Amino acid sequence: MIVGNWKCNMRLDTAFRLTDDICQRLGEVEGIDVVLCPPFVYLATVESVITMSNIRLGAQDVHWEDDVAATGEVGPRQLEELCDYVIIGHSERRHALGETDDAVNRKVKAALAANLQPIMCVGETLEEREAGQMETILVGQIHGGLDGVEIPDGFVIAYEPVWAIGTGRAATADDAEGAIAIVRREVSGMFGAAKAETARVLYGGSVTPDNIAQFLDRETIDGGLVGGASLKVDVFCGIVEEALRLRA
Ligand code: PGA
Repeated sequence: MIVGNWKCNMRLDTAFRLTDDICQRLGEVEGIDVVLCPPFVYLATVESVITMSNIRLGAQDVHWEDDVAATGEVGPRQLEELCDYVIIGHSERRHALGETDDAVNRKVKAALAANLQPIMCVGETLEEREAGQMETILVGQIHGGLDGVEIPDGFVIAYEPVWAIGTGRAATADDAEGAIAIVRREVSGMFGAAKAETARVLYGGSVTPDNIAQFLDRETIDGGLVGGASLKVDVFCGIVEEALRLRA
């Protein structure tokens, strides 16, 4: 699975063109879920372009309720009309906007109830890693985010160390694998080994066409969550093509 997280980038014309270019190159992609996550305002445009392709659509956040007085929010049933996926708990929301594990938990529950597949993000900061707290942080985020949730098969979690996001300094495959082992162990403890086996765990943080293979080569890493490198057609398609090459 390769997910492009456009964050707060693009204009209407560039969003349209990038989607169109990706569809021309990867529209018939098979064996890998390719998901584009544009800003809310471009969801409908992107959806209209990918409609005949195998590319899937995701949002970057969701509110935990529908049909309420919540100015500026977008509810799960509104998103479900357009999207299959939604990113929840991205570190930029946790750290810049104060999103808590409790909010993540409510959003995951609401998304699942509306038939949206969450892509739940977890990851430690550099300070936390250097203080030896990575495991505690990941355990807290997994339990906090998934408490009382019944995860479906194929549930998606993205491990994104905060220090690797947008820095050009990706984690090593060993670091990513070590953290993902903790994620899988906790999911297994909460939901059973069989369910954990089906979970898809992605790595995110400065993924490029040149380093994606080192992550996908590891059996426990099921894909990538891609930020900066998802904004250029050649770079994003290069990542997906590399993933396809490894699968072949
Ligand atoms: P990046 O962002 O690829 O630009 O590091 C990843 C993310 O934040 O999802």
